Formats: sequence, C-alpha cells, structure tokens
Amino acid sequence: MFMHNEQTRRDFLKTTAAGLAAGSVIGMAGTASGRNLGTGYMGLERRRLGKTGMDVTVLGFGGAEVGYGQTAQERVDQLLNSALDQGLDAVDTAECYRDSEVLVGNAIGHRRDDYYLFTKVGHWAPDGVDGWSAEGVTASIDRSLGRLKTDYVDLVHLHSCNIDILKKGEVIEALEKARDAGKTRFIGYSGDSHAARYAIETKKFDTLMTSISVFDQEAIDLTLPLCRELDMGVIVKRGIGNAVWRYDELPSSGYHHEYWHRMRKLEYDFMGKDNLDNEGPDGPAGTALRFVLAMDGVHTNIVGTTNPARFAQNAELLSAGPLEPEKVEAIRKRWKEVAEEGWVGQI
Ligand SMILES: NC(=O)c1ccc[n+]([C@@H]2O[C@H](COP(=O)([O-])OP(=O)(O)OC[C@H]3O[C@@H](n4cnc5c(N)ncnc54)[C@H](OP(=O)(O)O)[C@@H]3O)[C@@H](O)[C@H]2O)c1
Repeated sequence: MFMHNEQTRRDFLKTTAAGLAAGSVIGMAGTASGRNLGTGYMGLERRRLGKTGMDVTVLGFGGAEVGYGQTAQERVDQLLNSALDQGLDAVDTAECYRDSEVLVGNAIGHRRDDYYLFTKVGHWAPDGVDGWSAEGVTASIDRSLGRLKTDYVDLVHLHSCNIDILKKGEVIEALEKARDAGKTRFIGYSGDSHAARYAIETKKFDTLMTSISVFDQEAIDLTLPLCRELDMGVIVKRGIGNAVWRYDELPSSGYHHEYWHRMRKLEYDFMGKDNLDNEGPDGPAGTALRFVLAMDGVHTNIVGTTNPARFAQNAELLSAGPLEPEKVEAIRKRWKEVAEEGWVGQI
C-alpha cells in the first residue's frame, strides 16, 4: 500500500537532480519556486496542484468519453500509452463512466509510476448500499483500485454531491479514512456552483475539480479566488466546452445542449464562420484551451477524448501558452454582457 511520505519513482525523478538529468526521457523536472514548473514533452507547462505538491501537466486526460463511448480497449491502449510517452501525467476517471476505470487499468496499470491517477465516488455501491454513505464510498474506492490495477490512487473526488450530503459529513469522513489507509494520497470535491463553494469552505479538501470554459465562467468569480487563497489544486473539467462549435445543429446529446445554446448567444469572434476551420492556437479549440490556462489558480485541464491523435494536437495548441490578456479580457467582457442568470456552472 502507498505510504504518504514515500516518494514514488515518478516523484523522485521530478524533484531531484537525477530527475533533471533524466529530463530528456520524461520531460523537464519542475522547481519548487514558480508556477511554471518547467515543460514536458511538446512544450507542455507543468503546474503545482496546490497543496498536493503534485506537478501536473496543464493538459490531462478525462476518462468519461472512452467509458460512455465504449471505446475499444486497443484504442484506449494506444491513446493512453502514446499520450504518456508524449508527456501526459494526469489521468482522470470515475466509478460510473461505464468501464472507463477498467479500460484505463488495462491500458496503463502496468506503468503506474508514470502518471497521477484520479477517480471519483458516489454513484456506485454494492446492491442495497447507498453510494453516498460511508460504506458506499469505501466499497467504491476498493472496487476502483481493483479496476485500475493499482493499490493507491493520487486523488479521489466526491462526484458532485449536493450540499445536504456534504453537510452530513459522513462521506467526507470516509474519504479521510481512505486517505489515512493509504488508498488515496489526497481527497477532493468535483462539482460546481454553490455546492462547490460550500465544499471549499469546509476546508476538508485538497482539490476542486470544476467546469470552466469560454461557455462556463461562474467558477472564475465564485470559487477560484477562494481556492487560490486556500492553496487548493484546481482541475478543470469540460474545459474545451465539449467543443460544441463542431455542431451546426443542436447536438444529439443532451449533455452538450446548454453549452451549444450559450455559444449561439455569445457569438464569440473566434468562433465566427471564417475562423471555424482554424486549427491553430487562435482557432476555436486553441482559444478555448488557452483561455482556461490563463485563469489564475487553474492547474490542469482534463480534456475528454476517444482520439489517439488528440493529446499531441492539444499539447501543440497549448505550447502557444495561456491566452493573451487582451483576448481573455474580451471573452470575459462578452460573457458579462451576455450571460443570463441561469448560466451557472454545469456538472
Ligand atoms: N461531475 C464531474 O465530476 C465531471 C463532469 C464532466 C466531466 N468530468 C471529467 O472531465 C473530463 C472532461 O470533460 P468532457 O469530456 O465532458 O468535456 P471536454 O473535455 O470539454 O470535451 C471533450 C470533447 O472535446 C472534443 N475535443 C477535444 N479536443 C478537441 C479539439 N482540439 N478539437 C475539437 N474537438 C476536441 C473531444 O472529441 P474527440 O473524442 O474527437 O477528441 C470530446 O468530444 C471528463 O472526461 C471527465 O473525466 C467530470
């Protein structure tokens, strides 16, 4: 079982002179002093994930798409192994993304020291057990470890529970016990809007996973400043806004509807017809990804994909760096002009 103070081979490589010497193999190691901890392959910046001290690449992998898309194991093998070889080091999945944990475990469980691994709890429990109970949380973590072929994960997030569940405290205590038992190194809350704000205020969590994108900006004022104050790690989900500019018509998946409607009202210049085919850093994908990384306090964006070529493509876009301040300002201004009262953070 993982011990809290134990340095894994990966941490050792990233934080010691030996790691610096090995930089050409795994990417440059970070330094403790600044926000930009050096770059990995493809020029990807690393940021320290708040008080966890994990130096993560600013582009991570989101495991929902491969699970819900029932992507073939061979494709996930190729996708994740090539991304790890190219410098990816943050992999997120969850108990309820169908077989996502199994796909991840099969694909990269054998090279566990090469990446930080995050999962979630709350939506699965054995028959007859409430997922939002101490027993459910404990059983779910144990199942995740088996599915992920590991004896510890780096982070377990509560999977977007409401304030009432947080107030009961039972699931938070169960997470703390899992941390004490070495099953997870850190604990976090994944969610949005006022529930996320409440979770942060409990001061029990090391990290927040939350939606931030050009289509979803509530968190920038509601939760990010407090996360910065408390030195919490911030992992952005849905950060490319599900790339809804790909759809001329209302997408078939209801999951994409809210952002698609917002996009049509926001009418950002960089998503205008003449720029839609721009695959460079100023095109829709490049601007959206770089916007997220320009937010002070954001450490990584776990982008979902089923495409083995995506990691390299998005890493290349991010090598242009965070979006320029005047462009960020224009996007923020437009949001403030157009956003309706109900445009809250989307789970
Ligand atoms: N409540 C929660 O805790 C919660 C909720 C939602 C998500 N999450 C986590 O966050 C992760 C990310 O969220 P998400 O997957 O919903 O949203 P996302 O990362 O905003 O969007 C993923 C979509 O963007 C497309 N995409 C990626 N790069 C692109 C590019 N350069 N150009 C065009 N399209 C591109 C992908 O298509 P391709 O397959 O073609 O690359 C995929 O369909 C999830 O996988 C999951 O791990 C957590």
